[in-house]
Amino acid sequence: MFRGQQDLTPAAQIAFSARFGELLPPQLQRFALPGFPAIGVVSNAKDERGEAIGIANSGRNWHTDVQFDRTPPDATFLVSRELPGDGGDTLYASMTMAYAALDTGLRNRIDGLRVIHSRVRSWPILFPDRPPLPQSEIDRYPDVSHPLVRTHPVTGRQALYMGGNMAMGIEGMDDGEALALIRALRDFATGEAFTHAHRWRHGDAVLWDNRSMMHRATPYDDARYRRVMHRTSFGPAAPVHKGAPPTP
Ligand code: SIN
Repeated sequence: MFRGQQDLTPAAQIAFSARFGELLPPQLQRFALPGFPAIGVVSNAKDERGEAIGIANSGRNWHTDVQFDRTPPDATFLVSRELPGDGGDTLYASMTMAYAALDTGLRNRIDGLRVIHSRVRSWPILFPDRPPLPQSEIDRYPDVSHPLVRTHPVTGRQALYMGGNMAMGIEGMDDGEALALIRALRDFATGEAFTHAHRWRHGDAVLWDNRSMMHRATPYDDARYRRVMHRTSFGPAAPVHKGAPPTP
């Protein structure tokens, strides 16, 4: 977490982010910062024509970024530009700590399992008020599976990787059982013992590792306040489990 970044320009945000890996442009390009296709805007604000300048209500549920892609970003960098007077914290949960706290029986049970994530099937359930996904997105994001326990490529530590609410099942497991298991793990892993609330101050910028964290945005009075955040994501790579190659 870096304080005092109010002078960090969008170009500098991109240059900083690119030091960590290839930039992953936001899925919804209409919410990219004008002139900076690699920066996604998360905001409730509207422009002078009344058009939304960013994605409002983004990431209100526990998730890791872009888990529905075969190669999700390793890390995300979120820079505050305008903050509400109250609320709008971002919560973080350590999936490494949560995994380490599981009992051995549960660790053995989940070792090697793969979670199926579907942007296409979950879209109408999660966003009934949004327009259907265009065909280009449907083609771009077939269902993927990722290991439920992933190995961090740098530290070698194990972390839970449930993704967010686009998880639709577990390979080879009855859907009801799979979703109950994912829900139970997510509830456990996002308990107070493993979480931290970041209360944003003007000029804060936060960089986090999607390979070992979940996060979620929290509400604020969006009729009263504007909240504008600039997000870059980078370092796309397929999650791996104990050195096993990712599925193609
Ligand atoms: C996100 O999850 O992408 C946004 C987090 C936030 O706005 O606090």
